[in-house]
Amino acid sequence: MKQNSSYIDLFLVVLLCHSGCCLPVEYGDFNFDYLLFDQHWPITECWHWKSLNTSNSCSLPQVQNAFFVHGLWPSQSGTKGPNNCSNQPKFDRKALDPILSRLKQRWANIHGGTDDYSFWSHEWKKHGTCAQVLEPFNSELKYFKGSLDLNALYDVYGALAEYGIKPATQSYAVDDVLNAVMKKFGKAPQIYCLISKGQVLLHSVRLCFDRNIKLIDCSSVGVSAKNCGGKKTLQYLNKITVD
Ligand SMILES: *[C@@H]1O[C@H](CO)[C@@H](O)[C@H](O)[C@H]1NC(C)=O
Ligand SMILES: *[C@@H]1O[C@H](CO)[C@@H](O)[C@H](O)[C@H]1NC(C)=O
Repeated sequence: MKQNSSYIDLFLVVLLCHSGCCLPVEYGDFNFDYLLFDQHWPITECWHWKSLNTSNSCSLPQVQNAFFVHGLWPSQSGTKGPNNCSNQPKFDRKALDPILSRLKQRWANIHGGTDDYSFWSHEWKKHGTCAQVLEPFNSELKYFKGSLDLNALYDVYGALAEYGIKPATQSYAVDDVLNAVMKKFGKAPQIYCLISKGQVLLHSVRLCFDRNIKLIDCSSVGVSAKNCGGKKTLQYLNKITVD
């Protein structure tokens, strides 16, 4: 599988360079097996951001019944990355104009005082430039739009709510959260917790996709089902309690 992908990538690089569309381009290693799709719970991300510095503030969305896209990350089984695969194309703010309102609703930067574009630019440079070797993500607009489409298709908030798991002050069993997502989507995700100040918080739900953008079991590419420090229960925050 790995070998196959690298042949395809090589082919693509050759093709791109022969078609004359690319001026000097520094290609990195585009070798990846799957895409890790991280959707986070805005309230936990805000909690995290505030916990880093008491002067940090959040810009939280009005509508709080959705997980937000954090990123779609090309990854190799058993390890991370690749990252920053190419310095081309450069991040272009205007390219996102057609989907700006969707981005602001589902891929907003929660960190107050820093702008949305700095977040998107970071995700593009680090991950999008790697994902662009796949046809569905072969432009900045397609990478961001494609990720938003996955966010709409794999509605984590809705999946959990369907099994009675809603933001609350009570705790939930990590296994119940895991099973709800598994039952709804039919494949094993990763439940990713933030462990800080003695609390175990549901931070994100990660889904894994193969290079054809088909949902696969995260366990099949070496991503563990639970990343909650071995804890049995977690909290799904309904409000910010950090300060
Ligand atoms: C917290 O943020 C303030 C304002 O930006 C900064 O002056 C301070 O150094 C930061 N504190 C820490 C611990 O990073
Ligand atoms: C990759 O890009 C990210 C985002 O721009 C940057 O923070 C990071 O330092 C870069 N890493 C390397 C190894 O260049």
